[in-house]
Amino acid sequence: MIKYKIVLLAFLLQFVSYSQNSNTIKEIPSSNFQTKINGKSTNLFTLKNKQGMTAQITNYGARVVSLWVPDREGNFQDVVWGFETIQDYLSSSDIYCGPIVGRFGNRIDKGRFTLNGKQYQLTINNNENHLHGGTSGFYSKVWNAKSVKIEGNEALELTYFSKDGEEGYPGNLTIKVTYILTDDNSLKLLYSATTDKTTIINPTSHCYFNLSGTSKNTILDHVLFINAQKFTPTNESLIPTGELRNLQGTPLDFNIPTAIGERIDNKYEQLLFGKGYDHNFIINKPMGIYEKIAEIYSPESGVLMAVSSDQPGLQFYSGNFMKGDLEGKRRDNHNYRSGFALETQNFPDAPNHPNFPSAVLEPKHTYTQTTSYSFGVVK
Ligand code: GAL
Repeated sequence: MIKYKIVLLAFLLQFVSYSQNSNTIKEIPSSNFQTKINGKSTNLFTLKNKQGMTAQITNYGARVVSLWVPDREGNFQDVVWGFETIQDYLSSSDIYCGPIVGRFGNRIDKGRFTLNGKQYQLTINNNENHLHGGTSGFYSKVWNAKSVKIEGNEALELTYFSKDGEEGYPGNLTIKVTYILTDDNSLKLLYSATTDKTTIINPTSHCYFNLSGTSKNTILDHVLFINAQKFTPTNESLIPTGELRNLQGTPLDFNIPTAIGERIDNKYEQLLFGKGYDHNFIINKPMGIYEKIAEIYSPESGVLMAVSSDQPGLQFYSGNFMKGDLEGKRRDNHNYRSGFALETQNFPDAPNHPNFPSAVLEPKHTYTQTTSYSFGVVK
């Protein structure tokens, strides 16, 4: 009899957890991502934690395809914009949807920089500048993938070998990014890279988040905090001028949590250049220290995301180039300002500004970055 009751209970519990998840989390079948690109196999990997949080990641561009987190009612919301199939990603790689971008995230002025007296010319893919690693950056490569367990958490280890001269960068570079989904609802990213020649490096994750769970809503109501006292203003082509400007008194100051939409259309020159927010914030903490640097929540869903990192900069981009012309998961369009990116990184164009932190990586040294996106709710 007791045995029968236990079996019945186990059956019911399974049903409860199944019905919760099946109502909400709609996993994309991995078969939608199984193909070959230049002879290398692509796939879609699913990480789950004890609370049901689910991340789906493809090794095409080391890209987060979906990220299901609980909202204030306990329903799961997919908080990143993306597509259902690899074919869709292949035909729109220039919007940098969810991948690791690099070698150098963000812009390098005219794609030029000098190292040890030698000038290098990178590919040009954004007007006259180099953006996010070039025409065929890390975001468009097939990475080697290995599912692993790290301290009991499900994780995906992705590695990519970038040849000397790729996109104009010197040095054979090996980069590894490990995504770890922890039981406290954090998606943690551990980066490391080595080179055999002096080079530059600044990879970052480029997810379009919408914490309401759908791009039918804009992100203008999201309330944002960034722990920064200064930012790096840019010229009209979004290249930093080299100035480190105080945020106080500007519409870019997010030290007091403020809705993104509140000041986004102010006639402040920097906002006109960016067509909204598209700026690098200088994080107010000592170099290399890992701590919380930003926090953002959606009043609609209650989903709260904290960003922690050891990086000196944070590029906050408010989706100003999104046009609504692409249809993604659940027929959600890539609508104007319906996604934001918080990119943990070195400063854009760092190789051309001696007063910015160095982006140089020497042989026998290892580049590292630790960043995490942690989720909770505001009731
Ligand atoms: C951001 C960048 C923007 C834009 C966007 C992709 O990281 O700051 O200027 O290029 O990526 O559309």
